[in-house]
Amino acid sequence: MCGIVGYTGHVQAAPVLLDGLRRLEYRGYDSAGVVVQDEGALKMVKANGAVSHLAELTGGGRALEGVCGLAHTRWATHGAPTDTNAHPHLSEHGLFAVVHNGIIENFAALRAELEAEGVVFRSETDTEVVAHLLERYYDGELKSAVMRTAARLEGSYVLGVVCAREPGKLFCVKEAGPLIIGLGVGENFFASDVTALVSRTKNVIYMDDGEMAELTPERITVYDRTGRETAKSVSHVVWDIEAAEKGGYEHFMMKEIMEQPRAVRNTIEPRIRGGQVEFEGFSMTREELESFDKIVITACGSAYHAGVVGKYVIEKLCRIPVEAELASELRYSDPIIDEHTLLIAVSQSGETADTIAAMRECMERGARCLAIVNVVGSTIARLADNVIYTHAGPEIAVATTKGYTTQLAALYLFAVWAAGLLGRAGGERYDGLIASLRALPSLVQRSIDLNVHVKYLAERWHELGSLFFIGRNIDYAAAMEGSLKLKEISYIHSEAYAAGELKHDTIALIDEKRLVVALCCQSALFDKIVSNIREVKARGAKVLGVAPEGNRRIFAEADDVLFAPRGEELFSAMTEIVPLQLFAYYVAAANGCDIDKPRNLAKSVTVE
Ligand code: F6R
Repeated sequence: MCGIVGYTGHVQAAPVLLDGLRRLEYRGYDSAGVVVQDEGALKMVKANGAVSHLAELTGGGRALEGVCGLAHTRWATHGAPTDTNAHPHLSEHGLFAVVHNGIIENFAALRAELEAEGVVFRSETDTEVVAHLLERYYDGELKSAVMRTAARLEGSYVLGVVCAREPGKLFCVKEAGPLIIGLGVGENFFASDVTALVSRTKNVIYMDDGEMAELTPERITVYDRTGRETAKSVSHVVWDIEAAEKGGYEHFMMKEIMEQPRAVRNTIEPRIRGGQVEFEGFSMTREELESFDKIVITACGSAYHAGVVGKYVIEKLCRIPVEAELASELRYSDPIIDEHTLLIAVSQSGETADTIAAMRECMERGARCLAIVNVVGSTIARLADNVIYTHAGPEIAVATTKGYTTQLAALYLFAVWAAGLLGRAGGERYDGLIASLRALPSLVQRSIDLNVHVKYLAERWHELGSLFFIGRNIDYAAAMEGSLKLKEISYIHSEAYAAGELKHDTIALIDEKRLVVALCCQSALFDKIVSNIREVKARGAKVLGVAPEGNRRIFAEADDVLFAPRGEELFSAMTEIVPLQLFAYYVAAANGCDIDKPRNLAKSVTVE
């Protein structure tokens, strides 16, 4: 969703704001804008298109003088991506400028009310009502204008506010969605993500829902909903700015694919102590674990696909029933969940609105919630009873890669831990699983190394019409993710199908123009998937097989082959997804797509 940045300090604000915006562009990239306060007035430039366009219009921000301001990169919700709908939005007499991430649900009623009073709206956005309300409620006291305005708003929002008459002062408000304050020396900041701040400070405050903050260059004051000052702790960001830069790669996505061995190691290694899985800040007795009659894994998109893999692995190892549920469905399903349910919420960003809502719904019904999250201090991490952080480092490309594989790593760790605690895997089997977990980072590296020909295959197949990814069991779960990766960055339609299901209907779509990607890494099901390969080949389709390294039978069945190194088969989703990530990347590259910022998508989906 949208990204916001605020700066107040001693240097020219606009270049700092644009730098922050560039690092937030993964959150939304249809338009961008910046406003600075200068000698009692607000100077604003905003434009349709990328942050680079805004930078050109403002000479890298140098054209806008002033040491306090706001900036925004937009992912359109209300109103098309146009110059006028771009943020910031000004109040009627130009006294206030506002940037906003989220949705004001009652904006139509507020707009009608303001229009009846004679206010003329310039944009189609929900945000503009906020600017007009601020001007209406301002009587010389900024805090009370912000509080009175916030009290009128319904929905999910993070706001940044600057007033022409309050030199050096900014306000930000959080009702849902990420908001982080950065503490500098003689300068202070806020932003939607720490990546926008780390080049200037690593000391941050994570804001909670219902809080607002007042920033001047020297001071940060956080208030609760009633306006009372609240004490907040300062956290220290542990990674460097290099982690959020491309490091010589053409795209963040490729950099993040290549970072996977390290990211998976960072997730797994700290949790293995003395040959046992142990989590920091999360433990349970055997009785507690046995008190759950089921586990529900909930998430969206790729994180949901990781959850589907988790379901197979946990059920197999622990013999506990596991449901994997899309968060957007679970929240409205009147779920059968109580204190005997362990909920596992999976999210890279920790800010996905549907996942948060599903968690709240289930936790209200008594479920204990364990979150698997990458972003430290995010909403999901703070809402959950316990957290397993994935330690993948910042993921900037919109299409997740290391986010997904580290979620798998965390779910595998959980499965092995639970199997050990329940006595379902002991002795040699347990030790073998631990060794297999520890081998995963090198196997992911091998998966990258084995598939250097994937670029050639992608270039050969890049003009595909529509294709199928098929697999059984864990291969099917991995097929879902392989298909999603291709679709989202190359815009080629594809569908993941449980291989045995194809013949019941969709085989009608198979003809000589179709490519079928067949995932064949479950040895017990190899003959079954071979039958499905033959069914589609008999109808003219071409087949790209994904098979374990050294499997020679696949050459007789598939037209082309990608490889997954052999390891513990239960963990094969992690190694077989790597060539499919690379396949999606090179197909998208061959088709000239904007790989890191695919159209219509945003990295962190903070609206329903
Ligand atoms: C796809 C992708 C999305 C996310 C989904 C959930 O590549 O990244 O499908 O997986 O939006 O996001 P998180 O994990 O941040 O909750």
